[in-house]
Amino acid sequence: MQTPIKIVRTIDDLRKQVSAWRAKGETVAMVPTMGALHQGHLSLVQLGQEKADHVVVSIFVNPTQFAPGEDLDAYPRTEAEDCEKLTAIGTDLAFIPSANEIYPEGFSTSVTVGGMTQILCGGTRPTHFDGVSLVVTKLLLACLPDIAIFGEKDYQQLMVIKRFVRDLNIPVQIEGGAIIREKDGLAMSSRNEYMTPKQRAIAPNFAKFLREAIADILDGTPVDAAIAATEQKLLDIGFQSVDYMEMRTVPDLELTTDPSQPARIIAAATIGKSRILDNWPVTDASRP
Ligand code: PAF
Repeated sequence: MQTPIKIVRTIDDLRKQVSAWRAKGETVAMVPTMGALHQGHLSLVQLGQEKADHVVVSIFVNPTQFAPGEDLDAYPRTEAEDCEKLTAIGTDLAFIPSANEIYPEGFSTSVTVGGMTQILCGGTRPTHFDGVSLVVTKLLLACLPDIAIFGEKDYQQLMVIKRFVRDLNIPVQIEGGAIIREKDGLAMSSRNEYMTPKQRAIAPNFAKFLREAIADILDGTPVDAAIAATEQKLLDIGFQSVDYMEMRTVPDLELTTDPSQPARIIAAATIGKSRILDNWPVTDASRP
């Protein structure tokens, strides 16, 4: 039987372990998560294992990135299963702090990235990226890994993290890991669990329609028309709403209608209780 993954719950213990590795000249990758781990997270751990001698996975459902009324309480918490999955792939360390360890009594500091946090997801969740930026800053400073890896499914989050790490000179290299999809194309997400079987059957059309929109744009359809048609198709098959669907430049996330520059179609839509995110590069590789 494999030795269960080592778990630390305090920043002190995390630092002791990381210092011991550093003393031997070994490198460290960090994969911050909110748990409910699926193959998408595990692929980030495996990327970390390729790039560093040790991988630390943090599991912390961060209250500051949820607004009142969002799914903080319903968010799946599956520590035992998560640790089994991490053990199975040979992860070195899980950092699983309490809320009090991260936000002790009297905590009053914030981290805000201007501009790109008020668009896309920030349009409907205006305080979300403040919470993400704050907790990721804290996790990176607690661990000080050589590299930290975040999934490209949350593409805006990845760009925001890259921005504040650069702006604050945090000495950590930020890497994106490719989106991992179910066989039918749906991007893996802990929130997919909220779907009924009927909604789950409809959901893969989100990815399919986005790829069709990109093909149309590359073939000359104006961006606005391609997006409007795609939004309507999603509503017609049972999505309740399309929160946004936009073509944005990479890495600055500016609106663009020019498919010849590096850009992505980034979208969020709601089906049942699940708000699902996806994004695809505007290149021939995304054609269905
Ligand atoms: O993507 C997530 O799971 C979270 O937003 C993160 C980066 C772990 C911060 O809580």
